[in-house]
Amino acid sequence: MPAQTNTADNLTPSMTLKDVLQGVASDFQAVDQLINEQLASRVPLVEKIADYIVNSGGKRIRPLLVLLASKALGECGDGAVKLAAIIEFLHTATLLHDDVVDTSDMRRGKPTSNAKWGNAPSVLVGDFLYSRSFQMLVELGNLEVMHILSGTTCVIAEGEVLQLTNVKNPNITEEQYFDVIKGKTAQLFEASTHGAASLQDAPADIKEALRIYGRELGLAFQLIDDVLDYEGDAAELGKNIGDDLAEGKPTLPLIHAMANADEEGRKLVRQAIRKGGLDIMDEVMAVVRSTGSMEYTRQRANDCVKLAEQQLELLPDSDAKEALRALARIAVSRTN
Ligand code: IPE
Ligand code: IPE
Ligand code: MG
Ligand code: MG
Repeated sequence: MPAQTNTADNLTPSMTLKDVLQGVASDFQAVDQLINEQLASRVPLVEKIADYIVNSGGKRIRPLLVLLASKALGECGDGAVKLAAIIEFLHTATLLHDDVVDTSDMRRGKPTSNAKWGNAPSVLVGDFLYSRSFQMLVELGNLEVMHILSGTTCVIAEGEVLQLTNVKNPNITEEQYFDVIKGKTAQLFEASTHGAASLQDAPADIKEALRIYGRELGLAFQLIDDVLDYEGDAAELGKNIGDDLAEGKPTLPLIHAMANADEEGRKLVRQAIRKGGLDIMDEVMAVVRSTGSMEYTRQRANDCVKLAEQQLELLPDSDAKEALRALARIAVSRTN
């Protein structure tokens, strides 16, 4: 993931994701080891699918957030390592379910689990990963963190269902779109940093600052994901481009284009959303370009990153704090 200059604002990250990872390398190794230990199951297909997705090359951004937020407040310790593994399990479970729901056939540059084994095993192994993460959460034994994570899984599911109810709906508002991405994506980022702060028993204002930092980073991350679905490179992204339009999923670039195009352009985008498919992708892209809707979406992501960075002011200066700042900027300059 190369560091790139972000267009409108100067939000160039001071380090790459690799540098950020190197700063917590030993803790990170402990997280990976725990993740792999916890994949064990007496049912071979569970282990096979879980191992396939978990070790297929995810960026591990959420566990990284747990480690960095913990380090910014003190020491990582076994609890933070466990929380990081729990969060990555939850993330992986949502991906297994999401790829079934979205009928996606490529993730992390490989066939999805549903493409390889079918929908039923993917859903069930997703359930296994959710359940295993809750077993680990009980072992962690922190009621406040349990409270955060049990609420989080409900909110993610609600976000995904809310999105489903808006598929092929061209009347969705920008506010409704933000409601969806806040649930389906930002909530788990929020839980990563909020959970880490709770585990460290941080003062209330620090917990709140890290909660908002995570939320805003998560919103920016999804906004850019929605841009990359149109502008990204499939090989680099490891996912298919154009999936959102193919499904008739009205993301912010299209919502902004509908609000700002002329009558003809607006009608065209509405029709593309209603019908789904990629038949008129080129025409839709022409409208999206004429309305500056990609730039607008990137700008909204930059605004979220700036808000995330402001939250870090409350934290004492440290390498971990710098890495958190870089990670927020990486979220908007990323190409994968
Ligand atoms: C994918 O998340 C799902 C979204 C929220 C867009 P990531 O891009 O963090 O997925 P991996 O784990 O790196 O594959
Ligand atoms: C991301 O959903 C959020 C979850 C997986 C819960 P998307 O459907 O937008 O993300 P990708 O493009 O499949 O990674
Ligand atoms: Mg998807
Ligand atoms: Mg989805």
